[in-house]
Amino acid sequence: MAAIVVRIFLISILCLIGLASAAQSVIRMPSDRTAGETDSFCNSWRLSVETNNAGLWSTPEGCLGYRVDYFTGVQYASDLTVVASDSIAFARSVTPAGDGKDGWVFDVDETLLSNLPFYEKFGYSAESFNEELWNEWVNSTAAEALPESLGLYRELKELGFTVFILTGRDEFQRNATTANLLAAGFRDWEKLILRGKSDRGKRAVVYKSEKRQELVDQGYRIHGNSGDQWSDLLGYAMAVRSFKYPNPLYYIA
Ligand SMILES: *[C@@H]1O[C@H](CO)[C@@H](O)[C@H](O)[C@H]1NC(C)=O
Ligand SMILES: *[C@@H]1O[C@H](CO)[C@@H](O)[C@H](O)[C@H]1NC(C)=O
Repeated sequence: MAAIVVRIFLISILCLIGLASAAQSVIRMPSDRTAGETDSFCNSWRLSVETNNAGLWSTPEGCLGYRVDYFTGVQYASDLTVVASDSIAFARSVTPAGDGKDGWVFDVDETLLSNLPFYEKFGYSAESFNEELWNEWVNSTAAEALPESLGLYRELKELGFTVFILTGRDEFQRNATTANLLAAGFRDWEKLILRGKSDRGKRAVVYKSEKRQELVDQGYRIHGNSGDQWSDLLGYAMAVRSFKYPNPLYYIA
């Protein structure tokens, strides 16, 4: 009896080893790759992140350097330029009713404002996020506009859209956030919506859907929604068109 149990155990182990090595021959880890292969793997990883295929992801170790290059090189700015121009193309196709109810929703962090100087201090590692230091950074009001977003924002205002700013930042950060948005060049938004007491602990996708629903209930037509997180865009009371900003740095469910 004992011998049979041992044998089954051994066979199971061998099967597992077999499966593991078979899997390894298909899914190779970034550390096994040559430089060119690593780049294309990390490109694919980024595509997976941006399309939400990856779900709640963490950055493969082999792609940490790639990610720094992404932000510090030309690719990030290029991606932002294309998102902004796609957004403008759509916005121009909308005929505003002229009743002030044609809305567009923007997220703040990594959408209107860039916090890269904050993340740069931590080697672009969102894993070492520290709330106290983050609050200090928010208070510093030093975040700059993503220039492509500022251009888009101004154009939307000219086209007659009513702009709503819907952020996961907390209500206690209202003054700092307002000051920072103004310093960065944003003007004349209809409403800045932050997480109030009753929103604490809610998943971002729920909180943001609820707030958009309130706008819809007030008669606004949400044509466009710009955000770097899928939780800015999905859920209900969704915009006619959602514009996903690139962000391979962090994921908010
Ligand atoms: C940020 O500013 C607010 C409002 O002035 C203050 O209550 C809070 O303590 C500050 N937080 C940090 C981390 O400096
Ligand atoms: C925010 O600004 C308002 C008006 O400027 C001021 O009355 C209030 O005390 C400020 N709140 C904080 C938390 O600094």
